Amino acid sequence: MFKIKIKTDQKAYPVYLGRGMIDSIGSVISAYLPACSILVVSDRNVSLYYGERCLESLRRAGFKPYLEVLEGGEKDKSLTAASTLYTRALEAGLDRHAAIVALGGGVTGDLAGFVAATYLRGVPYVQVPTTLLAMVDSSIGGKVAVNHPLGKNLIGAFYQPSLVISDVDTLNTLPEREFNAGLAELVKYGVIWDKKLFERLESLKSLSRRASPRGLLLEIDNPWLLKFIARAVLIKGEIVCRDEREKNLRRVLNFGHTFGHALEAATGYAYYLHGEAVACGMAMAARLAVLLNILDPASERRIKTLLKQLKTPFPPQGLNKDTVAEALFYDKKKEGGELVFVLPTAPGRVLMYKAPPFSLMEQVIEEYLRGDLL
Ligand SMILES: NC(=O)c1ccc[n+]([C@@H]2O[C@H](COP(=O)([O-])OP(=O)(O)OC[C@H]3O[C@@H](n4cnc5c(N)ncnc54)[C@H](O)[C@@H]3O)[C@@H](O)[C@H]2O)c1
Repeated sequence: MFKIKIKTDQKAYPVYLGRGMIDSIGSVISAYLPACSILVVSDRNVSLYYGERCLESLRRAGFKPYLEVLEGGEKDKSLTAASTLYTRALEAGLDRHAAIVALGGGVTGDLAGFVAATYLRGVPYVQVPTTLLAMVDSSIGGKVAVNHPLGKNLIGAFYQPSLVISDVDTLNTLPEREFNAGLAELVKYGVIWDKKLFERLESLKSLSRRASPRGLLLEIDNPWLLKFIARAVLIKGEIVCRDEREKNLRRVLNFGHTFGHALEAATGYAYYLHGEAVACGMAMAARLAVLLNILDPASERRIKTLLKQLKTPFPPQGLNKDTVAEALFYDKKKEGGELVFVLPTAPGRVLMYKAPPFSLMEQVIEEYLRGDLL
């Protein structure tokens, strides 16, 4: 088991990462929170597998848990769903000494964290991520949010959890497509920060000619999955420690997200999984970097070869360049009206690039839509 400390201006907290931890959630949490009422927020899929085990473990440790099950999917990240959770918490009599446990993927974590940040002006919460994406990314760093009809993650806060408990065994029930979407975020850390991680992921590719990356990484005696997740948590921890509120450095985590968000928005958030859109966005950003002469074509090929393993869906029929370009300019990460891209200069290194020529962005979108990039 790994125990990794995350330190931000707001709070320091541990991330527990290991196998078979779902049944000991209660005893782990009891070292950080007094016996109290807990609202456990989960979605239908996750609660089916792990809801009762989580409740049972909390009861054994002296907590009084209540389970609220969401339908699942991005539409749960709404003020309506938050309101349902406030009502449930109020009806259960949860006071300021109560806590919230987010048992699920990034959707559950973002929503439950948002409710924790705002219910009674803030109660403690615990992230129990069950997707690879949530383990390596969304459960760390305290960005909590719901969506608004005009855009994703527009209503939110920086609110750190009291602890994070990642049980890698829960990934055994995660569908392959979701697993690959989480791998995209791992590739992201390799490109933006850690050349060694990038190379390890490349060597995995050559190992996995016969098995899928998921099959290979989930083999019980394969230590790499735990090591990769631990490395990602350390990297994200270091970045949020240096820039909790995304004033500067933390923006490197948005690599792939500018094009990625545009693809998600242009398809009504209904076609790509978030990690898939980010994977496509990373390939597009790498291509843009080559067109701007800041990345060599050989490095672009290496990034694309890794991303191809993730089997992202083909661009949907009918999606056109203008719709994607329009969505790009709605991206909330515009600075003073200019688009800012995180672009790779080599595996393990990126820079911020303001306002590249529009014609190059269009060219990249066209190449992606033609199927030339992935
Ligand atoms: N807060 C942040 O810093 C941050 C960072 C990245 C992404 N995000 C957000 O995360 C969200 C995406 O998260 P996600 O990809 O985890 O999606 P998700 O929470 O929707 O989970 C994906 C699917 O997998 C199912 N599932 C989850 N765990 C399972 C398991 N162990 N076994 C079987 N099924 C399981 C869920 O029911 C769901 O259908 C997006 O809303 C994105 O904006 C937030």
